[in-house]
Amino acid sequence: PVLVLDFGSQVTQLIARRVREAGVYCEIVPYNKADAALAEKPRAIILSGGPCSVHEDGSPRAPQAVFEAGVPVLGICYGEMTMCEQLGGKVEGGHAREFGRADILLQKSSPLLEGLGDDLGREPVWMSHGDKIVAIPPGFVVVASSEHSPNAVIANEEKRFYGVQFHPEVVHTPRGSQLLKNFVTKIAGIEPTWNMHAFKERAIARIREQVGTGRVICGLSGGVDSSVAAVLIHEAIGDQLTCIFVDTGLMRAGEADEVVNLFRNHYNIPLLHAEAADLFLGELEGVSDPEKKRKIIGKAFIDVFDYEAAKVGGAEFLAQGTLYPDVIESVSATGGPSVTIKSHHNVGGLPAHMKMKLVEPLRELFKDEVRALGRELGLPESFVGRHPFPGPGLAIRLPGEITGEKLEILRKADTIYLEEIRKAGLYDKIWQAFAVLLPVKTVGVMGDGRTYDHVCALRAVTSSDGMTADYYPFEHSFLARVSTRIVNEVKGINRVVYDITSKPPGTIEWE
Ligand code: XMP
Repeated sequence: PVLVLDFGSQVTQLIARRVREAGVYCEIVPYNKADAALAEKPRAIILSGGPCSVHEDGSPRAPQAVFEAGVPVLGICYGEMTMCEQLGGKVEGGHAREFGRADILLQKSSPLLEGLGDDLGREPVWMSHGDKIVAIPPGFVVVASSEHSPNAVIANEEKRFYGVQFHPEVVHTPRGSQLLKNFVTKIAGIEPTWNMHAFKERAIARIREQVGTGRVICGLSGGVDSSVAAVLIHEAIGDQLTCIFVDTGLMRAGEADEVVNLFRNHYNIPLLHAEAADLFLGELEGVSDPEKKRKIIGKAFIDVFDYEAAKVGGAEFLAQGTLYPDVIESVSATGGPSVTIKSHHNVGGLPAHMKMKLVEPLRELFKDEVRALGRELGLPESFVGRHPFPGPGLAIRLPGEITGEKLEILRKADTIYLEEIRKAGLYDKIWQAFAVLLPVKTVGVMGDGRTYDHVCALRAVTSSDGMTADYYPFEHSFLARVSTRIVNEVKGINRVVYDITSKPPGTIEWE
């Protein structure tokens, strides 16, 4: 594979995604825990960006082995700076940070920049750095420069060492993926054979090898990850797999039936359907604190899951839809613990006392790849392209106390909202869209009468990973249509508002 050494940049994962999009498998390891990965002889190494300056005391360096492995090395941003220092160049710190769009001008031809540059050799890139190279290392030449960065791209073609001061992995560098593709396929000469068809075959073989004749249980949530994991495992081991679907009664309209239908009737996968709505609603009665709600739901979930799992005699394996971003060890810039904003509960999490072996066939994949794998496995588009849905479900979209009646009102509004989003062809442009029912009543007028009903808030955001998000800029006519429909069709709501908060400072969910 290709190895990315992480120096703590916010966008390191994007490097691996772009490389994989070029058809080459790629892994990320922290720069200071790279020995094992380096010993496996990667075919190319990429040094990521990072928040430090190479002049700060104790700022990170690449292991010397990187430059002695005889393989191509690409340093990005901080990665370029440390490479430059380590190979005998000179870097100055303390410069005003150059940040944002810039044009580089190609000076020399290089396989790294093949396909880049307009007639005049200009190419737009996204810069973000504070250090500045003042002397390039011996053996290097400048292949591109920008107004403020005379050494924007440097190369030692003989050793196949490259440094770029900008970020080729972000979308703001439009042809950055081409640059990364050049690096792994042309310069490192790696055949682009990483695709979901090949992955599926390998994953099936690995599952068979791990599980043998054992029994596996898999918690289904209705989301993409657990669905794809279940179908993949079923292809590998058939009815040695039993799925458990804990129906919390907190899902959207019709979703529980959809899950049961798809798995039990369409795929013929053995499925235990635990109808636990009453239990969950009972436990949540009178509770309005968001963290308490999450804890109660998490605990009830494990209890029910445990109870159902016990029905599957002799299962030694538990399947989980763990993805690569959950597995990557991150380099923390501060080293300190981060604050808990929300205690996340993920359906399918391992109850602490369940001593089962884990089957995690999606551990190597990014979300986009899981979707592609789902398509490869024939999962319907309505499942594969589905927006993320939180484990605690509608409970965290009903600030305040939860009742069956409020859930019904919320479901109706939510259904109308999503129906209109689909009709307008916007579903796939949005990361998540949902209605929230506020514990606030306001006065309205309908016909000749006064109404006193709930407020419904609509939320829709774009995002690439849920960590940051922007509100979706619907046309006013669209919002007006949804508002009219909800107020007319949903008894219990007489006012609709649209949430235009980004994350940060808001979060995506309201609780
Ligand atoms: P926030 O609200 O923190 O949400 O901006 C970020 C993403 O996480 C989802 N989310 C959850 N997912 N269990 C989950 O599985 C949870 O408890 C949970 N809380 C929030 C949220 O829908 C968004 O995609």
